[in-house]
Amino acid sequence: MSTLRQTEIAGVGHYVPDRVVMNAELEQLMETTDAWIQERTGIKERRWFEEGKDTTANMGAQASRRALEQAGLQPDDVQLIIFATLSPDYIFPGSGVLLQRELGIKDNIPALDVRNQCSGFIYALSVGDQFIRTGMYDTVLVVGSEIHSSGLDKSTRGRAVSVIFGDGAGAVVLRPCTREGHGILSTHLHAQGEFAEELIVKEPGSNREDRVRVAMENQEEMYPYMNGTNVFKHAVVRFPQVINEALAQNGFQPQDIDMLIPHQANLRITQFVQQKMQLPDDKVYSNIQRYGNTTAASVPIALSEAVGEGKIKRGDLVCLAAFGSGFTWASALIRW
Ligand SMILES: CC(C)(COP(=O)(O)OP(=O)(O)OC[C@H]1O[C@@H](n2cnc3c(N)ncnc32)[C@H](O)[C@@H]1OP(=O)(O)O)[C@@H](O)C(=O)NCCC(=O)NCCS
Repeated sequence: MSTLRQTEIAGVGHYVPDRVVMNAELEQLMETTDAWIQERTGIKERRWFEEGKDTTANMGAQASRRALEQAGLQPDDVQLIIFATLSPDYIFPGSGVLLQRELGIKDNIPALDVRNQCSGFIYALSVGDQFIRTGMYDTVLVVGSEIHSSGLDKSTRGRAVSVIFGDGAGAVVLRPCTREGHGILSTHLHAQGEFAEELIVKEPGSNREDRVRVAMENQEEMYPYMNGTNVFKHAVVRFPQVINEALAQNGFQPQDIDMLIPHQANLRITQFVQQKMQLPDDKVYSNIQRYGNTTAASVPIALSEAVGEGKIKRGDLVCLAAFGSGFTWASALIRW
């Protein structure tokens, strides 16, 4: 018999930059069309950060303040920060310490950085869950935040990638759950490094004698590369697999899910997954139309919106799932 505690999500919040970038604006920058983007990805618009105003850390802080407020807590109540991003403010240190500073947290609490790209938030959530379960911490802040727009090739050469990604942040506050059978039931994490180069930013990589010089010479490789077809092929298999794994572990069927919050990779991927899982429209949350793919921020932004819109109620069975660069994939099953 396990004596471990269960974790609940006590608060959730999100922040997106004010600047809305419609597909029509991208038509001015590269050879693309609103129709192509909508048909292949479902995306109508995304947010791009404002230089001098938004940073990966301060967007994470905005989302965190909202999550803490919903949980009825103050920044100084946080005992551990876990920050997931592929677009940190600096190469080092990670954005976790910047978030700690931004929130004005007085105690020298630990700040942990997670870099598992589109699966980053669920990986981070699972880490936070372990710390709560073992009793090491009572209040853990888990954040996903991304600024993609400053790192995209916005010329025609980069169009297959740059139309997809957007900026934003989401956060949750984890606390011990006092309601029997509620909270995070299980998390499931996977990786397959043989596909590491299928969705990648290579430069500036560390394994060169003079990485800065090589990066300057290989400027194209400082932009993301994606083998879109292969990512798609694996995503539509791994999403249902990892969702079913979570359901099976807890003795549930797909029809028991009240709300599936998939990582907002691409609307076509979500539709595939929905079809395979035989879920009705009102049990699958999508907001990629408005934000594009915000990587580590996409699941907490979607969760925050779904909760805000009253689409997730106490007692609902909520499944989070993600797939992305690595390849990595993950799920979490929650009795809300
Ligand atoms: C990226 C993706 C939308 C591309 O769609 P696709 O149907 O595979 O399209 P292809 O890459 O085969 O490209 C088809 C054509 O459209 C062109 N194209 C690519 N991007 C374009 C754009 N933004 N606008 C217009 N045309 C574009 C290509 O150059 C290609 O032209 P060609 O046939 O003359 O060579 C699709 O592969 C995909 O969704 N993959 C998964 C991506 C994803 O979800 N990533 C996030 C994972 S976390």
